[in-house]
Amino acid sequence: MYDMEYLTSQLKKRVSSKRFIHSLGVSETAEKLAKLYNAPIEKAKIAGLLHDYAKDLQDDEAREYIVQFGLKLDDVLKFDINLAHGQIGAELIKRELNISDSDILNAIKYHTTGRENMSILEKIVYIADYIEPSRDFPGVDELRQAAFSNLDEGILLALDKTITYVVKKGKLLHLNSILARNSIIVNRNKSL
Ligand SMILES: [Fe+2]
Ligand SMILES: [Fe+2]
Repeated sequence: MYDMEYLTSQLKKRVSSKRFIHSLGVSETAEKLAKLYNAPIEKAKIAGLLHDYAKDLQDDEAREYIVQFGLKLDDVLKFDINLAHGQIGAELIKRELNISDSDILNAIKYHTTGRENMSILEKIVYIADYIEPSRDFPGVDELRQAAFSNLDEGILLALDKTITYVVKKGKLLHLNSILARNSIIVNRNKSL
């Protein structure tokens, strides 16, 4: 059993009030999706709550943790340090909050980029991050509808949006996002 109240109070110390509200929304949305798709509900709530635990670190703090934890970052993460907040967050949560469940830690680690063959919990946190109630952007309702009617279709739509956005902005595209997208399409066609 996890102490949600304790975890929530620890998160509050780590993030801005805006991010805190966002995190509560992701936790709530992840819980709903877990119920719908028969995923572990408590793990979904916790992973959703803590997914941005390291997002409000300053760049120099983030770099210190990377060295301290001996994290090996690929070239894209090194270039765009903000993308590493999932990886740093997972390590911090393991150390500071004593969470060792690899399913929860992976959902946090990969929520920024996705990855090939994502677990159901990884998918739930990835999409809940996008569609939680305080999110407001063109197309968010379409994304909400997709996520609650077919998880993979929701993820695919979210990945497409991210990839298109990143390309338009001239930012680096992480290979894991492409691998995530490809594996969902391949698996979808297999199950037809
Ligand atoms: Fe994040
Ligand atoms: Fe987030």
